[in-house]
Amino acid sequence: MPFFLRNSFFCSNFAAGIMKIGVFDSGYGGLTILEAIRRELPQYDYLYLGDNARAPYGTHSFDVIYRYTLQAVKYLFEQDCTLVILACNTASAKALRTIQQRDLPEINHQLQITNHQSRRVNVLGVIRPTVEAVPALTMTRHIGILGTPATVSSESYVMELEKIDSSLVITQQSCPLWVPLIENNEHNTPGAKFFIEKYLDELLAKDHLIDTIVLGCTHYPLIKKQIDHYLGDKITTIAQGELEAKSLADYLSRHPEYRSKLSANGTCHYLTTENADRFSQSASLFLSSPVQAAHIDLE
Ligand code: DGL
Repeated sequence: MPFFLRNSFFCSNFAAGIMKIGVFDSGYGGLTILEAIRRELPQYDYLYLGDNARAPYGTHSFDVIYRYTLQAVKYLFEQDCTLVILACNTASAKALRTIQQRDLPEINHQLQITNHQSRRVNVLGVIRPTVEAVPALTMTRHIGILGTPATVSSESYVMELEKIDSSLVITQQSCPLWVPLIENNEHNTPGAKFFIEKYLDELLAKDHLIDTIVLGCTHYPLIKKQIDHYLGDKITTIAQGELEAKSLADYLSRHPEYRSKLSANGTCHYLTTENADRFSQSASLFLSSPVQAAHIDLE
């Protein structure tokens, strides 16, 4: 039996309608999404998982990102999550489609055989809700995308934006050092300032008509103040939290089969593959509220 079905407690929890929403990121970035989702949908119960021990994902290959993401998603299913949000662009760009097309049908099939109930799980990403908001925000039609090397090389934003509006001029810039700076809490230092400005300069040197920039990594809102300060008020930067939160609210309104299974006690628990105290300290800073995390191993 697959490991995510071994837990009979999980099965009875599903039957009793006490399932949670899982929120996954390679590290701290997904907290920016979780915070916005909890503002929009405070009633539900959430389980956050940061794979901090293996972050950053953005410099890994497709195979590694897919394998790590699938492990995390299965773990969250096992912990009574019926929906998992990939609050990570890198995982959304590299792993979401394969998980949705190859793994979820098999997982849902197994759940039905084992459970004899209308039990389903699903995984949602962050790219589509972001892309849908972009065309309405730009005047010049020139868009910048900032992301990890993996997100940029996947071309996911370019392909999705072109589907929506083929008149957009899209320029990407990968920012390989931003996630490590944030994961190590070094993002307010003079060294970080140098690298924040470097990647912004490189993007704008490729297209000076850009008036709208997508922060295509959920870590980047944690340096949005510095980015906005450097760019000035002629360029709008788009963070994903609220877009993802509205999109999830809309999804739940259209999918009562998931909504009706969610428990609504307003709780949130945090898991990390790194040291729990270290995660709790940094997450408390990022969220401006106390976080008490627990350590887990994914392998
Ligand atoms: N927050 C992740 C994202 O949105 C960071 C990925 C990484 O770990 O490099 O892409």
